[in-house]
Amino acid sequence: MGCTTTLRRIGQKVVQRIKRDGVLATLSRAVEVILWESRKLDPVFRERERESREYDSLYNVDTSGKILKEDLSFPKEVEEWCNWYEPTPPYLIREFVRHLPEDLSNFHWIDLGSGKGRVVFMCSRYRMKAITGIELSPWLYEISVQNQKSFRDPNQQTFSLNFLHGDAQAIVFPSDDLIISLYNSFTGPVLEAVLDNLRRSLEELPREAYLIYVNPLQADVVEQSGMFEKIAQGDKYKIFGAKRR
Ligand SMILES: C[S@@+](CC[C@H](N)C(=O)[O-])C[C@H]1O[C@@H](n2cnc3c(N)ncnc32)[C@H](O)[C@@H]1O
Repeated sequence: MGCTTTLRRIGQKVVQRIKRDGVLATLSRAVEVILWESRKLDPVFRERERESREYDSLYNVDTSGKILKEDLSFPKEVEEWCNWYEPTPPYLIREFVRHLPEDLSNFHWIDLGSGKGRVVFMCSRYRMKAITGIELSPWLYEISVQNQKSFRDPNQQTFSLNFLHGDAQAIVFPSDDLIISLYNSFTGPVLEAVLDNLRRSLEELPREAYLIYVNPLQADVVEQSGMFEKIAQGDKYKIFGAKRR
């Protein structure tokens, strides 16, 4: 395809988008795409992407790639606060686990905003009671369920893997010790509602609980909740432990 034809097609797409979403939303999406594409110039980022794709091909799943929020069909009333899909890189999951207790067998890991299921599948290498992911996008939820059918890992140690479709605000926390992860899945009132729900659950039944917050843009909300204290942090995450009462 010639350069002029490509440019004409891009131009037509931009005009369609502006008609559909307005100038501001189109501009903000263009900036997001350009920022995402420019990350591919960074060799460290490219190596992480390679590891991500390798994970998928080794364990027979499809969890890689970024999907912008406009394509995730979030309900109108919460979409402002809900964020895009991007899987946690495998190296980070290994790093989180090093900060957690050695014996996880009494813990239930809950991934809030589980996307295509990467965290659920990777964590199944560690022996826990169960692992549950909850995902708001119907499309991503379906992919996670399909992935569960094809997933094979000879090192799997947790077999109770559950995927739920719905808003993380609606989750009922199980009575086990908890590890909760979220990858900047949502902010604002959605994050506050989830933390309130968690606070009630821990007050009713005090138990061991950890919160792993990746890309922690609103870590102040967690810190100000008074419920958790920070136990570890890296470039891209903070891990909190529930204060014992
Ligand atoms: C950055 S991705 C993380 C995916 C996965 N946890 C992982 O680390 O591989 C954030 C996910 O949160 C989901 N999400 C956003 N708002 C949500 C909500 N209110 N309830 C449940 N899932 C939500 C998005 O659809 C997206 O899949």
